[in-house]
Amino acid sequence: MTSVPSLLQFARYRVEDGVRDLLGKEISARVAETNLESDLDDTILAGIGAYALRRHLPGDILHGMQVFTAAGSHALLLSNLPAQEFPATPVSGFGDEAGLAVTNAIHLGLIRLLECTPFAVHFENDGRLIRNVVPNPAASGTTSSWGADSEFFWHTDNPHQPFAPPGSDPRLYTPPYLTFYAVRNEERVPTEIAALDDVVVRLDPDTRLGLLAAEFEVGAPDSNDGEATRALRSTPVLETGPDGRHRVRYDRGTTAGRTPAARKTLERWCSVLRTVPSAELVLDTGDFLVFDNYRVLHRRKAFTPHPHATARWLRRCYAA
Ligand SMILES: [Fe+2]
Repeated sequence: MTSVPSLLQFARYRVEDGVRDLLGKEISARVAETNLESDLDDTILAGIGAYALRRHLPGDILHGMQVFTAAGSHALLLSNLPAQEFPATPVSGFGDEAGLAVTNAIHLGLIRLLECTPFAVHFENDGRLIRNVVPNPAASGTTSSWGADSEFFWHTDNPHQPFAPPGSDPRLYTPPYLTFYAVRNEERVPTEIAALDDVVVRLDPDTRLGLLAAEFEVGAPDSNDGEATRALRSTPVLETGPDGRHRVRYDRGTTAGRTPAARKTLERWCSVLRTVPSAELVLDTGDFLVFDNYRVLHRRKAFTPHPHATARWLRRCYAA
């Protein structure tokens, strides 16, 4: 069940069926004329998607997308987007991207409406732009987005990198925004999000101060390629950004205190996290979700995937 906490700024929109069908028809016609692949042709795909979306989405949705980053919102969900005919879930991690041109045009078009840039990092996902979030049997037992049987505790993605200064190359930093397009989720596995602000207000002053101290080591998550990235040493978990808002880097599996006091602080942080109010989203086919990876913690519980062809499949793309 969804319980929306007071500090989570979360906008939800639903596309009307008629608009969805028009969008699907128009984008399908445009991509059918050509052969577009997400890594090589991402700007062309974004242009096709954004053009159709701007023409057909109602003004309130377009406005909500446009002001999302500047308004400092935590998350936005847009549901009932067009869904093409999908192939079997690529449980090995990668599939035929050209065959997903309609989906990619919509996903990348929406990122453009957010006035963001999609990007990939070389040390993860073979450097590919779109991550297939699928239960990969090879990732069994790991806390990777390719896992299923391991539970994720509250975390932020790639927290072992510095926060991006405005106007920088996002590939060198923690991804500011995570975007998802849901292909299928028959298992009804929820994605949970919680506002950092809701955690901070529940912290006692000592714990808050402790988290701001540069006494933690934060390592790379399982999804990163072996030795490609290094841990961030002597870093705070909690910081105040140039916009005056709190931001966080945290993954329980890779974050450790370097002093006894810092280890105690992390224990208190964990116990407060267990009580934080959250929104529990069961993403469905045609849903698009974006959230602020600096100011939102997310998690997913362990689940039993359906047979490979119809197993849970989300498409994730970083954006800055
Ligand atoms: Fe994650």
